[in-house]
Amino acid sequence: MASTHGAHRILVASNRGPITYEVHEDGSLHARRGGGGLVSGLSAIGPDADALWVCSALGAGDREAVRRGVGETGVRMLDIDAEVHADAYNGIANSVLWFVHHMLYQTPLEPVFGVEFRRQWASYEAYNRAFAEALADEAAQRAVVIVQDYHLCLVPGMLRELRPDLRIGHFSHTPWAPEEYFRMLPDDIRAQLVWGMLGADRLGFLTWRWASAFMRCAGEVDRERIFPTSPSGDPRRSVEHSPTGRPPLRTTQIGVHGLGADAEFLRARSHESDVDQRMAVLRAEIGEGRKAIVRVDRTELSKNIVRGLLAYRQLLEDHPEWRERVVHVAFAYPSRQDLAVYRDYTAEVQRAADDINSQYGTPGWTPVILHVKDDFARSLAAYRLADVALVNPIRDGMNLVAKEVPVVSDEGCALVLSREAGAYEELGEDAVVVNPYDVIGTARALHEALSMPLGERAERTKRLAAAATALPPAQWFLEQLRELEV
Ligand code: G6P
Repeated sequence: MASTHGAHRILVASNRGPITYEVHEDGSLHARRGGGGLVSGLSAIGPDADALWVCSALGAGDREAVRRGVGETGVRMLDIDAEVHADAYNGIANSVLWFVHHMLYQTPLEPVFGVEFRRQWASYEAYNRAFAEALADEAAQRAVVIVQDYHLCLVPGMLRELRPDLRIGHFSHTPWAPEEYFRMLPDDIRAQLVWGMLGADRLGFLTWRWASAFMRCAGEVDRERIFPTSPSGDPRRSVEHSPTGRPPLRTTQIGVHGLGADAEFLRARSHESDVDQRMAVLRAEIGEGRKAIVRVDRTELSKNIVRGLLAYRQLLEDHPEWRERVVHVAFAYPSRQDLAVYRDYTAEVQRAADDINSQYGTPGWTPVILHVKDDFARSLAAYRLADVALVNPIRDGMNLVAKEVPVVSDEGCALVLSREAGAYEELGEDAVVVNPYDVIGTARALHEALSMPLGERAERTKRLAAAATALPPAQWFLEQLRELEV
């Protein structure tokens, strides 16, 4: 039968794509490639797989590339109206959904779901619709589509209506909110999000904690028409549903894929000469014979960098024997700087670091070394030399830094890990675990980690590295694909 469908058999959709373009002064366009789990996953299936990555044009360079028809084979960038995109991305995805799933609101004054929110929500719908239409247009008959993250929650439902033949998956890289917190959203919005997701044949999460939270939220949204299976003990969990509440019920499978670190890539990359150079510079900054507590984060509100600094200050108070003998190396790289609350948070991080340095610093010792300019080679250098890694997010889907440090560490590194990070499920046993809000407890954990005998530290690091690499990015992707293809 002749078909007007596209030719691609495997499609991925995400807001941020694998490539970005910049326009240089002479008008030429330059491409920069990104990394991450999806990039390795797609390269693992090879160029013959007819794969297509649908993503959004994010900056002026990307939009120009779309207009000039410049592009990579295998990538389709959508030039969605810049204001619609800003409302959907900054307004809804990053200021509402990210806040709900990471529980970031200061609730006496926020959130306020008024007229402005409704206007932005309409943009979120339009932006999701643009993705659904592009995917419907590009996908071959019975193709597999994997949609990524909270930016695109409505896509599975919209796409199912346009193309019921497709196998649709959605993967959440964030936590999912507990039902009491999710209930803050207006009821119709909650329902739209859940029904949007349930358009998928399969929903993937990073841990069972987030998967179960989704199932509870889904059940609560519409008890007459949405029926999560009992989450106890059954590894094949699912949500059954029907628009009428009567048979035939459709089933959405729920799966968990704990994305791991890419050991092969990290080990090779961390021994290149630029990393060695940065290690020498960092060692000089830290000073001879001192221990290093390292943290590397994008400056997200959920990463808890300020409380990390407060805990370090508490350590210097409670254990003055560490003064002059330890340095906190904190890399806080810029993220989402269009949002004022992110800019303010970055300034707060800077202030907290400056306070510690002026209170405790001596002519030969700077207690906190803070860098805010992204430098991947320097991050790897810090991973290699860290004595302690501090990963204390208030809530985190997984946290790959916790998984990367043990893989790259030269001589073993003690991991101080928040019990609210997804990585805790896999790494908790060999980490020093903290409640991220408890700065005195975190200071105690830092002391314990700094005092850990080197032999024990090396043994734990080995076990952490094994757990951290159990599901490398390529397998993580292939596993999802396999589940959807059956
Ligand atoms: C973090 C989250 C992902 C999310 C990404 C978006 O890495 O873990 O779930 O997709 O942020 O970041 P962006 O810079 O595109 O806003």
